[in-house]
Amino acid sequence: MQAALDLKDEILELKRTQNAVILAHNYQTGDIQDVADYVGDSLGLAYKAKETNADVIVFCGVHFMAETAKIVNPGKIVVLPDKDAGCSLEQSCPADQLEAFLKENAEKNYYVIAYINCSGGVKALCDVICTSGNAVKIVNQAPADRPILFVPDANLGAWVMEQTGRKMDLWQGACYVHVEFTRDSINRIKEEYPDALVVAHPECTQAVRLLADEVCSTEKMVHYCKDAPVKDIIVVTESGMLHRLRRECPDKNLIAGPTDRCACADCRYMKMNTMEKLRNCLRDLQPRVEMDEEVRRRAEFPLLRMLEQSK
Ligand code: 13P
Ligand code: SF4
Repeated sequence: MQAALDLKDEILELKRTQNAVILAHNYQTGDIQDVADYVGDSLGLAYKAKETNADVIVFCGVHFMAETAKIVNPGKIVVLPDKDAGCSLEQSCPADQLEAFLKENAEKNYYVIAYINCSGGVKALCDVICTSGNAVKIVNQAPADRPILFVPDANLGAWVMEQTGRKMDLWQGACYVHVEFTRDSINRIKEEYPDALVVAHPECTQAVRLLADEVCSTEKMVHYCKDAPVKDIIVVTESGMLHRLRRECPDKNLIAGPTDRCACADCRYMKMNTMEKLRNCLRDLQPRVEMDEEVRRRAEFPLLRMLEQSK
């Protein structure tokens, strides 16, 4: 107990001496969320990263999120506790494969929309970025006279097509965590809690989304649960979300959506970050996110366009 307290104090002291800000995604462990200056979804974190006056941004999330902070803040030091914290969606769409696809299909003159869960190299090839929190808004603003290619998440893309009625060609990537939820696993927990509402992330498959009362980004889940007229809510996303929701909605009974194999779903990448690694990266200012300046510059344009279009 004493050791855990010391580690938290050490982090807060290092944060002060390094003039750092700690940004944490909703899927981080509870102890990391509790020590962060801001906890949110990819969209909120991108805005916070852009606005900060701190010299150092400590990004407790996965690599593409920290890289996004670097793209909009090239002059700042950006560190993340574990440099290997990747993302299966990012891996499903390598920049060279997207570049080859766009070359092969040059005659289509695609308007390319990239979900923010992708590398800087992929962002550099796109017209605009979106997050789960603003995807509908961004797609609604796409030029009507051009076909859309949506990368890399086919499930989010399919959900956005349902919401907007806009046809898009979808890259066939998926989040390995959210596809673990199944119609059977969610139906079983619904039987256990017959009065519960179900909120699910749009990275889930259509079979699971169809069972949900609401489909939304992690940040919108906070508002949905706060305003829900019932006590029991089944939350179909990564397990870290439950900590954030229990803190914000103490009067609700928040139930983790199960998979066929587990009572909840953990993202192994998000969970690579620990309090010890957070302390070490604040102390050593390593591992840092570095980017090729030409790629960064090209990736910045669609990101800034997203921030503008989602205001
Ligand atoms: P949000 O932007 O909704 O937090 O989603 C990020 C993510 O990685 C979901 O798996
Ligand atoms: Fe990527 Fe899925 Fe983990 Fe989110 S939960 S960071 S999409 S692997």
